[in-house]
This record gives sequence, C-alpha cells and structure tokens, in this order.
Amino acid sequence: MAIVTVRNLKKAYGDFYAVDGISFEIEAGEIFGFLGPNGAGKTSTINMLIGMSRPTEGEIIIDGIRLKEDIKRAQRIIGVVPDESNLYDELNGFENLCFCASLYGIGKGEREERARKLLKLFKLEDAADRPFRAYSKGMKRRLTIAAAIIHNPKILFLDEPTTGIDVESARQIRDLLLALRREGKTIFLTTHYLEEAERICDRIAFIVGGKIVKISTMDELMKNSVQGYTVKLSFEAAKKRLEEVKNHLERKFNMDIDIEDEDSCLIRSKEAIPLYPILKDLNDEGIAVFEARTIKPSLEEIFLRITEIEASAGKVGMDR
Ligand SMILES: Nc1ncnc2c1ncn2[C@@H]1O[C@H](COP(=O)(O)OP(=O)(O)OP(=O)(O)O)[C@@H](O)[C@H]1O
Ligand SMILES: [Mg+2]
Repeated sequence: MAIVTVRNLKKAYGDFYAVDGISFEIEAGEIFGFLGPNGAGKTSTINMLIGMSRPTEGEIIIDGIRLKEDIKRAQRIIGVVPDESNLYDELNGFENLCFCASLYGIGKGEREERARKLLKLFKLEDAADRPFRAYSKGMKRRLTIAAAIIHNPKILFLDEPTTGIDVESARQIRDLLLALRREGKTIFLTTHYLEEAERICDRIAFIVGGKIVKISTMDELMKNSVQGYTVKLSFEAAKKRLEEVKNHLERKFNMDIDIEDEDSCLIRSKEAIPLYPILKDLNDEGIAVFEARTIKPSLEEIFLRITEIEASAGKVGMDR
C-alpha cells in the first residue's frame, strides 16, 4: 500500500524547473531511494515532501493527508534528516535530543527516556555530554538521525545520509536504516552513490534534470539495462596464443572476443554465454584456461545506459 503519493510535482526557481513533473509512490515499509547526479533536483524534491518548500505545481499525499491542506499534521508523522544538520552546536547530544522531543510536545520524563534509548541505539552514549560541535561528521549524522526519529515517525526522509563521512560510519548508518525498516518504518533517501542505493534500497527512482527517468527494483534494473553478457577468460602463459584463441572461438561459437591484455580476453554476447562447451573446447585444443569469470556491469555503466536510452527516447529534457 502506498504511504506517500506524489503526482506531477514541479518546482520552479524563476523560469527554471528544478523539478519538472515527477510522479511516484512509496510503499509502506520500503526503503525508497532517489538517485541522481548533483543538481538533479533531489533536495528540491525532498524539501517539498517534508513541507519545507512549496510546490509550484502538483500534489503530495502523506499517509492520507494532503500536504498542502494540513502540513502540521503530516509533519507529526514524518522525521527529517536534512543534508546539513539542523542541531545546535552548543547543546550536547542528550540536550539536543531532548530539545527536539520538546518541539513535539513530549513530556520531560518521556523525552529523557527516549533520548537515552536513542543515544544507546546509535552508539553515542559516551558522547552524550559532549557539545554537538565537538562531534565527528559521522557522529553528527547519527545524532541527526536520532533526533529525526525522537517522535517515533512513520516515515523518515533523509537527504544524502552518508555523503561526506567515512566508509565505516556510512556502513553504521546503512545498518541503522535497515534496522528501522525492520521495525516497520518507511524510508525515503536521496543519494548520488549507486552502491548505496544498491545496498539498501528496495526500489530506486533515477532523477536527472528534474525528471524521473526510471523507477525500479535493483534486480529489474540490472536485468533490463544490461546489454548482453560478458565473461572474462584468463589463460596461463597464453601470450602468443591469444590471437589464435580469439579466432578459434569467434569462428566456432559465433561470438565477439576482445583481447584485454596479454593473458586474458573478454567474450561478449547478447545471449547468456555457455561456459562449459567453451572451456571443454579450449581444453581439447590444448589451451589451459586459468580462470573464467562473469563480469557484472558497474552501476555507473547502468546509470549511463538508462539516461542514454531515456534521453534518446526524448524523455529527458535537460535544457528547459
Ligand atoms: N533556491 C534556489 N534558487 C534557484 N535555483 C535553485 C535553488 N535551489 C536549487 N536550485 C537549482 O535547482 C537545481 C536542483 O538543485 P537541487 O539542490 O535540488 O539538486 P540535488 O539533486 O539535491 O543536487 P546535489 O546532489 O548537489 O545535492 C540545481 O540546478 C540548483 O542550482
Ligand atoms: Mg541535494
């Protein structure tokens, strides 16, 4: 069931459309990723979803609430992690969380209990008494997420939650988000890291130039945007024989072979590549294959390919 519905959403700054007519739904309990390059319109979109910026056009419905009719009610059930932290430098971790809770009208005893629980969950107990300004970037991001869920929201919106922090902190944050999903929360996040989207998102929307060019699960994405298959064959001491291997395989199996370096070559094919017959054949020819490995396309390649396909179909308007 959709918990967020967005229809024909637009945001114009002057006559420039940063968000240009996007529509999508977020299912309850999923992690929905908004993936796109710098300037694609991710922050502009999230700011409209959280009621921080007014849409030029279009409709946003959050858990049955029309945002433009009742922003306050919608904001009680959402949590927000902005790209720049919104916490107070001079307050310590505990005080920051208690202050955020007080904004939602949570009583003293309750808010102190929640603050302590979240500091523990986010492994910030030792830093509870330190001022926010003394936190590392990763700690700041964790406390900002803790603050965003202090009122136990149904839906969490995060703008680039792991940008600018180290690998280990980013991993901790992804684990926290997965744990929140297990608790039944719905999560919307923006990112320009393909790897991140692949690791934790159930579905991904690609946004380029203010338009969504594709919405799909990662699996579908790999299946539909991969042009054929690639297998890398490595040989032992094959230096002189690679040309011979290439000619032989091309003739016999009717496939394209590229010599990659002095001891390996790539087989490319539109259809799945039957490895066993090839290996057997080479063996019969007295050519020892050291390793055969299927090459997965990088997410960068997939992204480029999707944007190319959609651009050539005239769907991506970059020059509005
Ligand atoms: N307040 C504003 N006034 C004018 N133009 C703006 C404003 N905010 C954003 N833009 C423009 O809108 C476009 C989309 O910006 P936005 O911040 O939404 O992109 P983004 O996808 O979040 O990028 P990034 O990955 O860099 O965070 C950009 O061209 C940006 O320059
Ligand atoms: Mg942004």
